[in-house]
Amino acid sequence: MKNTHRDKIVVIGAGNVGEAIAYTLMVRKQANDIVLIDVNEDRAKGAAIDIAHGTSFHKQVWVRQGGYEECKDAQMIIITAGIARKPGQTRLELAKTNVSIVRSITENIMKYAENPLLLVVSNPADIITKAVQETSGLPGNRVIGTGTSLDTARFRYNISTKLHVNVEDIQAYVVGEHGDSQVAVWSSAMVGGFPLEDYAKQVGVTLDKKEIAEHTKNGGAEVIGLKGATFYGIAMSVSNIVEAIMKDDSAILPAACVLDESFGEWAGVAVSLPCRIGWEGIETCLRIPMNEEEQAAMNKSVAILKDFWAQVKE
Ligand code: LAC
Repeated sequence: MKNTHRDKIVVIGAGNVGEAIAYTLMVRKQANDIVLIDVNEDRAKGAAIDIAHGTSFHKQVWVRQGGYEECKDAQMIIITAGIARKPGQTRLELAKTNVSIVRSITENIMKYAENPLLLVVSNPADIITKAVQETSGLPGNRVIGTGTSLDTARFRYNISTKLHVNVEDIQAYVVGEHGDSQVAVWSSAMVGGFPLEDYAKQVGVTLDKKEIAEHTKNGGAEVIGLKGATFYGIAMSVSNIVEAIMKDDSAILPAACVLDESFGEWAGVAVSLPCRIGWEGIETCLRIPMNEEEQAAMNKSVAILKDFWAQVKE
C-alpha cells in the first residue's frame, strides 16, 4: 500500500553526488522529507541547510541531517557513500575499499528498516549493488543499482547531437557493466519510433558507431578529467529512477539488479538491463533483443563482473 502522507527519502553520503541528488529531489518535488546521513555530520548538516534555504522558491520540503534511525520509515534509501574514483582509475579498482564501506552502511540500515527499497549509486555500481543485496538479504527487486542508467543517458545524448534530433526521441540502451565492458545496443535503437538506421539514412547522416560507443563509455572519465568529479548527470539518473518508484509508474528504465535464476548463466550477477520499475522496486528485468555481437559482448561483461565479484569476495 503506497504511503500517502509522507514521502521520505534518505540519502546516505553527503558528498558532491549525495548533495546533488538531495538538491534534485527537492527541486523536482519528489519527496517532502529528505534526510542526509554522513559520517561527517557537519557536512550533511551544511548541505541540508544550504538546500533547505532554497525551498521557499519551490515548495515546503523538509531537508535535514539525520542518523540511521531515519531509515525506519523511509520510502527509499539512496546509498552514495564511498571513495570517489580518481582520474585514470578504473571503477573495478575501487571495489574492495567501497565494498567494506557499504557493507557496514547496509548493516546500519537493516538495524532500523524492515523491508527497505535501496538505490545503490556508489561505485563500482554493479559490484556494490551485489554487496548491498548480499549484506541486506533483501530480494533482488528491492536493491536497485543505477548501473548503466547514466551510460544510457550519455548514449542517447551523443546520438541526438550527431543526428540533430530531440534527445527524448531516442530509444537506445547501454546494458551490462557500468564500466569498461558496457554494451551499446545499436541493433534495437529507435528514433521517433522507427529504426535508427532508417532515420540516419533519411537525414543523410552516417554514424561512427564505434566512436559514439567509446565516447559514451568514457563520458565519466572525460568529465572527471576536466572538473575532478561527476555529480549532475548521476543525480538526474537517480531522480529518474526515484520518479518511477514514487509515482508507481511501471516505467521501463535501464538499471542494475542481481539477476534471478531465470537468467541462466547471468543469474546471481548484478548487471544492467532495461527494467520495469514501480512502487515495489523492480517489477521485472527485460531481455532486450541483441544481435550476435552484442550478445557476446553482454556475456563477456557478465563474466567480468562475476570474476571480479569472486576476487572481491576472496
Ligand atoms: C559516472 C559515475 C557516476 O559514470 O560513475 O559519472
